[in-house]
Amino acid sequence: MRSSSAQTGLAFKDRFEEGATNNIAHDVLVGLRSEQKYIPSKYFYDSRGSRLFEVICNLPEYYPTRTELVLLFSYATDIVRGFAHGDLVELGSGANWKIRTLLQAMGRSQRSDVRYVPVDVSSSALKQSAADLETMYPELRVNGIVADFTRDLHCIQSDRPKLVLFFGSTIGNLDEREASSFLECLAATLNPGDRFLLGLDMIKPTEILEAAYNDSRSVTAEFNKNILLVVNRELRANFNPDSFEHVAFFNEEEERVEMHLRARRDIWVQVRKVDASFVLRKGETVRTEICRKFRRISAEKMIHDAGMEVSRWYTDPKGWFSLLEAVRDRG
Ligand code: SAH
Ligand code: AVI
Repeated sequence: MRSSSAQTGLAFKDRFEEGATNNIAHDVLVGLRSEQKYIPSKYFYDSRGSRLFEVICNLPEYYPTRTELVLLFSYATDIVRGFAHGDLVELGSGANWKIRTLLQAMGRSQRSDVRYVPVDVSSSALKQSAADLETMYPELRVNGIVADFTRDLHCIQSDRPKLVLFFGSTIGNLDEREASSFLECLAATLNPGDRFLLGLDMIKPTEILEAAYNDSRSVTAEFNKNILLVVNRELRANFNPDSFEHVAFFNEEEERVEMHLRARRDIWVQVRKVDASFVLRKGETVRTEICRKFRRISAEKMIHDAGMEVSRWYTDPKGWFSLLEAVRDRG
């Protein structure tokens, strides 16, 4: 564990430096060899990708961030009431704006009693935002973990009471199978009395969903193409982002927005680090992200099937975004 001094209240653990493999080579090869080519969306988030995502969060078309923030502002006092001597674990914490609503509602003495445990694959986002939090709340202990929440959830296990937070509807970036295996692992980390707070983007009219992923300033298009730059850098590939067009649409049957990169012409890509090459025909797409959208009934079933039960349900007046609280099933 690489950690800074206890005086600062900041400590980090990097699962990848400890040898947990983040096997981008394997993931990209499997994805590009599939019939529908894809690149897993966790590879968006190098330091540039994390910064672009922060810009997306402030775009007028991208309603999820502000809608979830309003919910958090409204219910923060409720959520943190009575939480003591525990770990506030945030998965996919990013710039950790949302946790500030809860930390603010806590007040100084409650804050000095809890530990904040942000978990993110993006080491740059995790470290920068943890340092910002330390400046804002010097009394807070921050134990950041650079890790993959689909694989490394055992890292968050502890005997302290836990409130696990998974904001932003990031669970929607996992397919049904990945989400259920993630939720089962998460349920296994919960002790009696622990809670899980999950942000979910709800089904709404197609034009609103599609506008959120096709913003007028093309920031989402830049974010989408950034994944090619990550693959170029990490695997010595030669994708030219200008040869691709950003495409995002709502797939009604699957109830998800899909982001793709569509080849503008026939393309031959070399991935030198693994000595592989791929041909993309003009018009062919590489899927870079799925963003599943939820209904209350399907969300409750997903939680129940993973061995948890929904204990609270918060939503905005339009029902655009929901926060559910779940606890481990007694059974
Ligand atoms: N929670 C924030 C950020 C959402 S963006 C919000 O609600 O605004 C998604 C975040 O999850 C990014 O910071 C990204 O780096 C992280 N992430 C994506 N896949 C991940 C994975 N498999 N393991 C850990 N973090 C992941
Ligand atoms: C992080 N995640 C929940 C975002 C989403 O909406 O699925 C990522 C994103 N992709 C494009 N815009 C935002």
